[in-house]
Amino acid sequence: MCGIVGYIGERQVAPILLEGLKKLEYRGYDSAGIAVYHDAKVNVVKAKGRLSVLDERLAGGLNMPGTMGIGHTRWATHGAPSDLNSHPHTSTSGCIAVVHNGIIENYLSLREFLSGKGYAFVSDTDTEVIAHLTDYYYKGDLIETIIKVMNRVEGSYALGVICDDYPDEMVAVRKDSPLIVGLGYQENFIASDIPAILEHTRSIYLLEDKEVVLLRKHEVKIYNIDREEIQKEVFTVNWDVASAEKGGYEHFMMKEMSEQPKAIKDTILPRIRNKEVVLSDIDLSKADVSAIKKIYIVACGTAWHAGLVGKTAIERLAKIPVEVDLASEFRYRDPIIEEGTLVIIISQSGETADTLAALREAKKRGAKILSVVNVVGSSIARESDNVLYTWAGPEIAVASTKAYTTQLSAMYLIALHMGVMKEYVARQDADTIISNLEQIPDKVQRILESKKDIQYFASKHYNAKDVFFLGRGMDYNVAMEGSLKLKEISYIHSEAYAAGELKHGTIALIEEGTLVIALATQKHLFDKILSNIKEVKARGAVVLAIAQEGHVEIEKEADFVMYIPETDPLLTAVLTVVPLQLFAYYVSVEKGCDVDKPRNLAKSVTVE
Ligand code: AGP
Repeated sequence: MCGIVGYIGERQVAPILLEGLKKLEYRGYDSAGIAVYHDAKVNVVKAKGRLSVLDERLAGGLNMPGTMGIGHTRWATHGAPSDLNSHPHTSTSGCIAVVHNGIIENYLSLREFLSGKGYAFVSDTDTEVIAHLTDYYYKGDLIETIIKVMNRVEGSYALGVICDDYPDEMVAVRKDSPLIVGLGYQENFIASDIPAILEHTRSIYLLEDKEVVLLRKHEVKIYNIDREEIQKEVFTVNWDVASAEKGGYEHFMMKEMSEQPKAIKDTILPRIRNKEVVLSDIDLSKADVSAIKKIYIVACGTAWHAGLVGKTAIERLAKIPVEVDLASEFRYRDPIIEEGTLVIIISQSGETADTLAALREAKKRGAKILSVVNVVGSSIARESDNVLYTWAGPEIAVASTKAYTTQLSAMYLIALHMGVMKEYVARQDADTIISNLEQIPDKVQRILESKKDIQYFASKHYNAKDVFFLGRGMDYNVAMEGSLKLKEISYIHSEAYAAGELKHGTIALIEEGTLVIALATQKHLFDKILSNIKEVKARGAVVLAIAQEGHVEIEKEADFVMYIPETDPLLTAVLTVVPLQLFAYYVSVEKGCDVDKPRNLAKSVTVE
């Protein structure tokens, strides 16, 4: 989604804004622009398309002098991508410039109101009403003006505002859209995400909803909506610049897939002590676990897929009924939350709009919230009763990989913790699961080392028109993730199907040469999936099967087989997905797609 960067200090601002915006490219965008204060005036340059277009227009920032400015990458919601619809937007006089992430829900009525007051609109965006509304209320005090604007607009926003009258002040605010403040020496920053400013500072403020920030080069003041100054704790970012950069890899996605052994290790190992799961970061005692009657797992996309695996693990180990919901459905479906309901929210970014809204809905109805989140200090993390962080480090590629496998790891830990607390898992069984868990990072590494085989397979099949992923039980959950990965980065139509359900309609689509990827890692369902492979083979499908080592009988049925190292069937998901990630990656590369920034997609979906 859109990205914001702002700077006030002593250095030339335009190159800093351009660099910062480049670091936010992963969020997805279709146009970009910057506004810079110079010679008692705010100047704006913007351009549809990649940042390189803007960069060229600005000669890398050299032809736009000034030491205070705001920049933006836009992901179109209201109005097509175009120069005019790009941000920053300005008031009619040009005196006020605004960048905005989010959606102003009452923009139509505000547009009507402002048109009636003589304001002429030049774009189709919702954001332009903020520029004009700011101008309408502005009587010389920018903070007071922004508070009035906040009281008038409905929806979500992160805003950066500069004005002709204030050569050394910038105002920023957020509501339901992420925004941070970066603190430097004689310079300060705003940004939608940490990578944009990490090369300049590690000290940041994580803004809460409706906090208003006044930035000067030597100070930052934060106010509440009643204009009372508030004090905030400085948060120190503990990951380094290199972890948000490609580090020699051709794509972030390959880098992030390769980081999975470490990410899983970091997520699991510190939480295992003397063969016991110790979740000291969350407050889930034996009594708490016993009181849980029902669990909802709520998330979007890949995180939702991790939730499906989490359901299997929790139901199997802790015998607590679990419902897995898409956040966009849960928030509007009047969910039944009774005493003893725990809601587990899963999110990499911790900022996904639907997931955050679902969390708030659940909380309003009295549920306890445990979240599994990757980004420390994100909105979901802050609003949850308990947070179990996945220690995946920054994930930049739009296609989620290490976030998913660490989410699975976290769900296994939660399930086992609950199972032991409820005494459904015997000591000896817990020991076996824990040793299997401890071996997962090395096993993932082994799969990554066989990536050449998958690359070869992808080079033969990247022209496929349709791909079907089949699985049963947990394999079906992983099939969904494999299918999503392929769709989002290679644009090949694919479907994940519960293998037993295929013959109830979808098998009609299987014809000579259709590529089917069959997951066969669940021992108790192995014979069943073999029959399903036979069914599609009989209709001409080409089948790639993924099985646990030792299950060689599958070679008789499938055209190609890839083996994953043996493990407990409950834990296979975290291994099975790796060849599927690699397959999607290599197909995308063969097709010449933009692997890290696939079309129409954004990394962090902060609007509904
Ligand atoms: C995965 O590859 C996706 N790009 C997407 O489905 C993602 O998982 C989803 O938008 C949820 O994001 P979150 O984990 O940051 O909440």
